[in-house]
Amino acid sequence: MTQWWQRAVIYQVYPQSFQDSNGDGIGDLKGLIQRLDYLQKLGIDAIWLSPVYQSPGQDNGYDISDYQAINPQFGTMADLEALIRQAKARDIRIIMDLVVNHTSDEHRWFKVSRQSRANPYRDYYIWRDGKDGKEPNNWGSCFSGPAWDYDEETDMYYLHLFSKKQPDLNWDNPKVREEVFDMMNWWLEKGVDGFRMDVISLISKQPDLPDGKPGINGYASFNEPANGPHVHEYLQEMREKVLNNADTITVGECSGVTLEEAKKYARSDEKELNMVFQFEHMDVDADADNKWTDKKMDLREMKAVLTKWQKGLEDIAWNSLFWENHDQPRSVSRYADDSAKYHDVSAKMLATCIHMMQGTPYVYQGEELGMTNVPFTSIDQFRDLDSINAYRELVEEQHVFTAEEMMRYLCRKSRDNARTPFQWDDSAYAGFSTVEPWIMVNPNYKEINAKKQVDDPESVFNYYRKLIALRKEKEIIVYGTYDLLLPESEEIYMYTRTLGEEKLLVVCNFSEKEVAVEIPEEFCKGSYLIANYPEGEIKEQMTIRPYEAFVLEK
Ligand code: NOJ
Repeated sequence: MTQWWQRAVIYQVYPQSFQDSNGDGIGDLKGLIQRLDYLQKLGIDAIWLSPVYQSPGQDNGYDISDYQAINPQFGTMADLEALIRQAKARDIRIIMDLVVNHTSDEHRWFKVSRQSRANPYRDYYIWRDGKDGKEPNNWGSCFSGPAWDYDEETDMYYLHLFSKKQPDLNWDNPKVREEVFDMMNWWLEKGVDGFRMDVISLISKQPDLPDGKPGINGYASFNEPANGPHVHEYLQEMREKVLNNADTITVGECSGVTLEEAKKYARSDEKELNMVFQFEHMDVDADADNKWTDKKMDLREMKAVLTKWQKGLEDIAWNSLFWENHDQPRSVSRYADDSAKYHDVSAKMLATCIHMMQGTPYVYQGEELGMTNVPFTSIDQFRDLDSINAYRELVEEQHVFTAEEMMRYLCRKSRDNARTPFQWDDSAYAGFSTVEPWIMVNPNYKEINAKKQVDDPESVFNYYRKLIALRKEKEIIVYGTYDLLLPESEEIYMYTRTLGEEKLLVVCNFSEKEVAVEIPEEFCKGSYLIANYPEGEIKEQMTIRPYEAFVLEK
């Protein structure tokens, strides 16, 4: 059976950086409402809204202190209700970010939990005694340092896989699950259409919390031991008690997930989730367990990874397709060429490559303009605790990297590259705000902005618009079978899609070289569906220009 979310394109809004409406330098819900016409023009079907809940904001909203209240910095519950209404009026659905592996330490459950060893909320979190006066195991927090914090009050440690202000919930406690499920039903009744589930693969921990192999900062990654034995059981329970109550869309963030596990999460029999975010294609330019490097992506490896997921889930489960989100640097800088000469063709090439695959595409705000990484020059310009903590730990405390090296890595990989204000126009602060924003504006906003692109038929924006429209017109783009050609080419990513008698050929040059390519005969009498350069004659031997991309229809 086909589903609306298989044919959909989803747009991620990071509200803090999208549009400020009240002149405080921080994006907000009213600002987002003002920009719905822009999103409708782009043609997207749903918005994944990064967290807007009550939060002390230590991890920009991924540390929630009340799941049923709105952070005043973003507006009010009435604003959120207006957003749902106004989006619906434009056929745009709203997907909330569900952050339930952990809460904020300022959530009332945790405030009570930490008061004594025996209280009704103690077992909502994961408390352990120390081992020989030290942490209960050697896991590291995702944001540097140990994954445990000692609490003097009761002489025990609590687990936090992220910052110490993000204590992990204990999903083995049925009361925690009931609280989460009730809260989700409450949101569905409000009219939201689904959930993007933050680090959902980590909710069930291995019962004995075993030590792991230490990484570059001396702490072990928790990814394996935290992919525990009950996660599928808990998600099936969620499906029965919540998700079956409405026509929902669900996508689970599952870092480190294997193909076999992903099949369980996202099987098309809909026992758990609709799809997962896997991150293997985000790791091809990282070392094992260390993203702070300037290693370059090898296209052969990228193709092998994406092909593994395309073929591995075929007819079994459903892929999510993305190059960017709020935790990743900008793709045009990372995987192509953001210099003035090749910026536009590069951004369009990446878009072609991912949007022509099988799965549901996600566009991260600004990606549709080809927004780039940011030329940060000093650690003071960063706001992301992941970047700031890593700098402190790896440069100042452990001297693993020099300050210069780390700045280079941060400019390539920091999450703040994707979090600078949306570039609406060439006025002060890029039209995002009337005052200095909470994080610097990328200085290239005069060249790269929405105002310049919306009315230019050749812009990156209008190329995305066309890709999104094509997906609505052509069933083959949604459902066609994917097959890789030229696996060994270091420059060209070429694949076909097949649906019955129909066939598409996708050709993308990931390099600045001109590359000679043999076009399979069956396409030589075909026609162009889309191209990022002026269309040349289709023939058996073609020279593919720098960062060129096109799709041929048989
Ligand atoms: C994944 C989110 O995408 C990221 O932004 C956040 O810091 C962590 N989970 C913790 O919630």
